[in-house]
Amino acid sequence: MPILSAEHLTKTFETGGDATRVAAVGGVNFVAEKGEFVAIIGASGSGKSTLLHMLGGITRPTSGRVVLEGVDLATLDDDALALIRRRRIGFIFQRYNLLPELSLRENVALPLVLDGLTAAACEAAASAALDAVGMTNRAGHRPDELSGGEQQRGAIARALVTEPALVLADEPTGALDSGNSSRVLGLLRELVEQRQQTLVMVTHDPEIAAAADRTVSMRDGLIVADTAAVAEVS
Ligand SMILES: Nc1ncnc2c1ncn2[C@@H]1O[C@H](COP(=O)(O)OP(=O)(O)OP(=O)(O)O)[C@@H](O)[C@H]1O
Ligand SMILES: [Mg+2]
Repeated sequence: MPILSAEHLTKTFETGGDATRVAAVGGVNFVAEKGEFVAIIGASGSGKSTLLHMLGGITRPTSGRVVLEGVDLATLDDDALALIRRRRIGFIFQRYNLLPELSLRENVALPLVLDGLTAAACEAAASAALDAVGMTNRAGHRPDELSGGEQQRGAIARALVTEPALVLADEPTGALDSGNSSRVLGLLRELVEQRQQTLVMVTHDPEIAAAADRTVSMRDGLIVADTAAVAEVS
């Protein structure tokens, strides 16, 4: 059984003022196996973030379903969904979403604190995660005291600190210089190989996507190509 599967997923947004309907995702089937690294590429506005948010249980689909580790996310109430998101999924947001009142170390430790781990265990795990992204020297800073790329690396540390089964990364290197970009990509690859984590990474950069085992292309809310499908045929 695949770790993640999405069936006939759609998301239509009704916008306020002029009641326009935007079909951000128009009917997507998607499967990812344990230990697989999949890149999702596509132009701006093609529905990549919307799809990733549905896969991660952040946005409820208009129709279709998402099954993670055998659990249909639509059957869960908000509390149960929050628990799965915290324990099984590491989400790296395109806009980082660090909590402004907390230091970087506190942001990274938060998922573990909420799970009731001891202060020492939270501290040790947060320090290791921050070290892995090269952010030890800024751990005491609040997000507004960090550069964009530093916030991004902090957000990556927060997503990885729980050792989640599934990592969903939305342009995780978007704000990084080439050195930090390769470091982060190397780290993500290593986690897939060593911990058998599943990684779904959105990027608009074909060079970054080349690090993945498989590339899925989106256009106008639909998957229009999947290198896995090509591999099966040949
Ligand atoms: N909350 C929302 N309300 C209305 N429309 C939305 C909303 N979120 C996204 N959209 C629209 O849905 C479409 C897909 O957006 P999405 O953010 O998924 O694109 P994307 O592929 O991630 O783009 P980018 O590469 O710029 O991040 C866009 O046309 C966008 O304007
Ligand atoms: Mg996006």
